Amino acid sequence: MALYRRLDPERMPHHVAIIMDGNGRWAGKRSLKRFLGHQKGADAVQYIVETCSRIGLPWLTLYAFSLENNLKRPRTEVNFLMMLLRTYLNNNVQRMNDNNVRIRYIGRTEELPGEVRERMQWAEEATVRNTGTTLTLALNYGSRSEIVDAVRRIAAEVKAGKLQPGDINEQDIDRNLYTAYMPDPDLLIRTSGEMRISNYLLWQIAYTEILVTDRLWPDYRGIHLLEAIEEYQRRERRFGGLNTGTESDDVSSLPDRQLVL
Ligand code: FPP
Repeated sequence: MALYRRLDPERMPHHVAIIMDGNGRWAGKRSLKRFLGHQKGADAVQYIVETCSRIGLPWLTLYAFSLENNLKRPRTEVNFLMMLLRTYLNNNVQRMNDNNVRIRYIGRTEELPGEVRERMQWAEEATVRNTGTTLTLALNYGSRSEIVDAVRRIAAEVKAGKLQPGDINEQDIDRNLYTAYMPDPDLLIRTSGEMRISNYLLWQIAYTEILVTDRLWPDYRGIHLLEAIEEYQRRERRFGGLNTGTESDDVSSLPDRQLVL
């Protein structure tokens, strides 16, 4: 893995989040049914999970099924995605254990069908002792509803007299989000070219580097993740501060050309 050796081990991201998009287009381009695109998408999930495990990435969070998918897609497609998830878990828990991968979930998972929840719980328990990559699947997930759920919990704490409204701070929001157990993503990747966040981890990506690739999700492989990490390492993260090595700008000293721009 020549590309892996080029990466700076000191500046690896800790948490990569991915919006997996383009399954339908992948199938459409081949005159296949959308279902087949999703199936290939599920295969791509496992390739990427295993790459993350191999490179020692501690956190991977995948947008597998949004609240909007659940409400707006035809029932037959939603049912297929649910079946695919169950099959994915059945077929891959052994490989997750071989790769030291732990699986967890975020989203309104209590609204998913019982047989899916049962498989999810089984997979979560079967991998709970793994200490390598934590794979989080966002399922029936929407970021705004996550924030609503957090606000409800905080309101309950206030009502119970455990918290004063004036004392509510960012940590209180953080610890009430579904993602309380993980750090914020360092890198967000979206496949298949759309420049949208689609209600994904809105609070958590405040300082995340965003990378959009035209590649469709079923074609996404470990090498593309490594390329994305290389691009991430080329960028300088500022967290709202100044570029390192630059002085605070005195606008009057800028050359005219820059002022016009
Ligand atoms: C978008 O493709 C993709 C999804 C609906 C979510 C991702 C789902 C998978 C990768 C399949 C199964 C996942 C697991 C974890 C087993 P799209 O249908 O929106 O594509 P399009 O925009 O090209 O139509």
